[in-house]
Amino acid sequence: MSLSLALIEQIKSEIEQVILDNSEKTEQFRLDFLSKKGKISQLFDDFKLVEPALRKELGKPLNELKQAAEQKWKEAQENVANQPKEKTAKQFDASAPAWNFPVGSRHPLSIIANEIQEIFSKIGFTVAEGPEIEDDWHNFSALNFPKEHPARDMQDTFFISAEPEIALRTHTSSVQVRMMENNKPPLRMLMPGRVYRNEAISARAHCFFHQVEGLYVDKNVSFADLKQTLLHFAREMFGEDTKIRLRPSYFPFTEPSAEVDISCTVCKGKGCNICKYSGWVEILGCGMVHPNVLTNCSIDPEVYTGFAFGMGIERIAILKYQVKDLRLFSQNDLRFIQQFKSAW
Ligand code: DAH
Repeated sequence: MSLSLALIEQIKSEIEQVILDNSEKTEQFRLDFLSKKGKISQLFDDFKLVEPALRKELGKPLNELKQAAEQKWKEAQENVANQPKEKTAKQFDASAPAWNFPVGSRHPLSIIANEIQEIFSKIGFTVAEGPEIEDDWHNFSALNFPKEHPARDMQDTFFISAEPEIALRTHTSSVQVRMMENNKPPLRMLMPGRVYRNEAISARAHCFFHQVEGLYVDKNVSFADLKQTLLHFAREMFGEDTKIRLRPSYFPFTEPSAEVDISCTVCKGKGCNICKYSGWVEILGCGMVHPNVLTNCSIDPEVYTGFAFGMGIERIAILKYQVKDLRLFSQNDLRFIQQFKSAW
């Protein structure tokens, strides 16, 4: 088609109708109209062949057409550059590797606490919790710690008020008392939670840590039941060939009392620096519930007997995962925490 006003008009309206709302369309517009082989360049080529008489008539609108097209392209380019990047079907690459979303994981102490609960729930223990802020009765007196008794100093206490005596609980044994006060035997309960002691923080001690308390009160509960229950636990937790050893000990709320060692999980009893070359590591305290404690909770010690135990969750985690520094559990360092994975 030779150059004419009608042709210029036609291309002008074509240009006006194009919508340039993304970078692809803008580039296509440039190719169609402004590039060397584009329609406008074509018109300029044709212009060279136009008779001189017509040049004046066609020159101006042709130049205006070119300017309008350039203007439209420039504006579109600026708009597209300012737009948020859009994903068109072409840009989406279904074969690209999936994004690596950070996925959280359970805290190692939660993993261990859950494992302990699972082992005991299979043999009929239910789980209960009590308050972290306790009165003197539940943390000490009902547990047979007489006033001014030196055993109270065994656990350095953070007091909240002196009168009445309110403190951060120093052990989960306080929850035993609450359970016995509020429920009738038979009782078979597991009580996990955080406890607090006024200790200097180091690799081996912290001012807060976690315990799980166990309690079984019924008619005819014996020390043999305690021992068998703990052996079962040790094997489930640390492996079939784990051995346990009970050493006589003292707690005001149990009589007799014992501390329980397991054969070292690292050297299997041969001796290493974890077990300080003894082949054994301590995991918990336990005993038969003292008759005074039963009486304090309105349970008749002539009818009922019971056993109790308390273990540190950090201690179990340290043995299971061979963690060398207690502080790692509360520093929230992802490099540490991300090493632990659980199914739930
Ligand atoms: N409450 C003790 C502590 O924190 C642990 C303990 C020992 C709990 C003997 C018990 C027990 O239930 O029978 O050191």
